[in-house]
Amino acid sequence: MSGPGALQLLAASTERSIAIVLMAIVVVGWAIYVFVNIRQAKVEVGSEVELAPNRGKMPDDEELEGRRLEKVQAFGVLMLLIMALVLPIYWMLEGGRRSGAEMAFSEAAENRGEALAAEQECTDCHGADLGGARFAPVVLDIGHQFSDKESYVISTTWEAPSLDDVFTRFDTDAETLDEVSEVRQILVYGRGVMPAWGLDGGGPLNDQEIDDLVAWLWRERISDEEAQERAKARLAIESAANPDRSEGAVLFDLHCARCHTPRWPGRGPAQLPNNGGLIEVKPGPDGAGRYGPSLNGVSLERLFPEIEDHISFISDGAADNVPFGEFARLGNYGMPGFGRVLDEDEIRAIAEYERGLDQESQAVVGFELLDEAGDDQ
Ligand code: HEC
Ligand code: HEC
Repeated sequence: MSGPGALQLLAASTERSIAIVLMAIVVVGWAIYVFVNIRQAKVEVGSEVELAPNRGKMPDDEELEGRRLEKVQAFGVLMLLIMALVLPIYWMLEGGRRSGAEMAFSEAAENRGEALAAEQECTDCHGADLGGARFAPVVLDIGHQFSDKESYVISTTWEAPSLDDVFTRFDTDAETLDEVSEVRQILVYGRGVMPAWGLDGGGPLNDQEIDDLVAWLWRERISDEEAQERAKARLAIESAANPDRSEGAVLFDLHCARCHTPRWPGRGPAQLPNNGGLIEVKPGPDGAGRYGPSLNGVSLERLFPEIEDHISFISDGAADNVPFGEFARLGNYGMPGFGRVLDEDEIRAIAEYERGLDQESQAVVGFELLDEAGDDQ
């Protein structure tokens, strides 16, 4: 928690203690007053002839208009002063008190979100530190890829994206938690292999719980600089491991392939529960399309005749109901923006790489033609 934040909270709790002490004094004072009154009232019937206030000796005019009057006036001035001072002081502290309450409120939401995340196992898939790609265990129906007779289900691992930098890609304009909408949408309706979490998407969590998760993600977010540094470090490692791939291609693998290349997040060894065999999940041709559409020179030059428009689209991503490119297409929250993490040269290198992808070689053959007799063995 930041310094001023802690102070505000402290101010809020000091105010509360003062209020409690004041209340205690008032309650005890009243109790004493009532007690004394009851005791005086106990005096036997008829004694009011002597005890009633108007039966006693009254002060004369001299006394009433002298010191006594001054005392009453001084008391009035004192009360006025208290009001004149206390109200502005109360008003001055009101801001701190309110933001203190707000902070306590959002802190509670973040903590509830963290607990929910543990309960729903977000970190099992996205990593305990929410950074870097982890391997999420998933069961996938891969259809008839290995046999035309049997539909195969494989248990495999699927890369889940880092979440500590999710706000560098989605809701990139959001300056406060209230402005977050895309990440909320993803959580409510799920995404690809990740199930829906919100009730509206058929998941188990209500709006409040989704808001708590978003508050938690917002608290855990890293700065743009940290995200940039991490991206640079990964680029260096991947480039060294793939010396034959251009920088644009490696950047594409790191940031884009998970959504634009078939089976990319599931690449690697997988188990076939049907017969217990081990298979290798191979990604489809680069950019041939998965959650995001297929990307290749033909479609991209049609969509963005100017490469500059292509570059600025990658930088900003798609916004809800905002058309992009040559055609009036509607964005659907799907395409993130990368301008906060990748620099212009890097984005240009990716755009050039994408424009070089060949449409022909992207055609993924989904079916095999059986001969007349049907014996494909
Ligand atoms: C079974 C593993 C799994 C669990 C559990 C899981 N996720 Fe995911 N999540 C994924 C995968 C995989 C993706 C990428 C989906 C895709 O594109 O196919 C993803 C995507 C996301 C995204 C979008 C990020 C991006 O850049 O595309 C967010 C946000 C997210 N998850 C948050 C959460 C939260 C919050 C929880 C806990 C309530 C959670 N996830 C639980 C696997 C999981
Ligand atoms: C989280 C998934 C995801 C990631 C990661 C992603 N994209 Fe996309 N991308 C999409 C979706 C979904 C669309 C379609 C948006 C729409 O139609 O509203 C899209 C559309 C596009 C388009 C427009 C093409 C067309 O036909 O609409 C380009 C170009 C593009 N992405 C490039 C990239 C690049 C470059 C990267 C990596 C730097 C990348 N994408 C990373 C999901 C993703």
